[in-house]
Amino acid sequence: MSAARIELGKEPVSIDNAARAVAAFERTLITPNSPYDRWAQGDAGAMTVQQVRGLQQFDQLGCTGCHQEPLFGGPRKPGGHFAVFPFHDGDFVDQYRLREDSGRFAATGRESDRHKYKVPTLRNVALTAPYFHNGAVPTLEQAVRVMAAAQMNVALTDTQAADIIAFLHALTGEFPAITLPRLPPTLGSSLRVD
Ligand code: HEC
Repeated sequence: MSAARIELGKEPVSIDNAARAVAAFERTLITPNSPYDRWAQGDAGAMTVQQVRGLQQFDQLGCTGCHQEPLFGGPRKPGGHFAVFPFHDGDFVDQYRLREDSGRFAATGRESDRHKYKVPTLRNVALTAPYFHNGAVPTLEQAVRVMAAAQMNVALTDTQAADIIAFLHALTGEFPAITLPRLPPTLGSSLRVD
């Protein structure tokens, strides 16, 4: 949408204005104050020792090459950032049918887009199972192991995996409380008058 303002003309209830209203609402759907955010703002106790270790692992392994702060999604580029997935072969590729879909190629028809997927944000990722484009991976633990193997060619130790998962839980923010507006009752015809 080019202009964010509602345009009041002859027909204020238009498709464009409805889209603007939805967009304005969606911009309020942010989940701030995750333990990571508070930690990054200087509250050293906001993340546990294990979560800080997990962030270090996440960085050292190179996950931040694609999942970058502050959203832990792809680097900001017009149109989004896409990466080939899976990059390396391994047992997970067959187990989770990771090469069955053609990725962005299906939308653009460009050979260079084959098996490319948008690098998703990892904010609130602990709440959004199942994982990946085909939803074939049921748990976060397994998703982290798949990513390490498929993108970095690394088999994580149990401790590494547990630390990274603990860190990813620190990306769960506070959800907005939504109070629904109540239309005024019409006397004599509304079911409830209060
Ligand atoms: C080369 C880029 C790249 C690197 C490096 C990378 N990822 Fe990803 N990551 C992606 C892409 C692309 C997807 C989406 C794949 C899909 O939808 O099938 C993704 C998806 C994920 C998901 C699932 C998100 C969801 O909502 O389904 C998790 C969890 C994740 N990555 C964690 C990691 C971890 C942990 C590391 C480091 C071990 C890592 N990633 C390294 C590109 C990358």
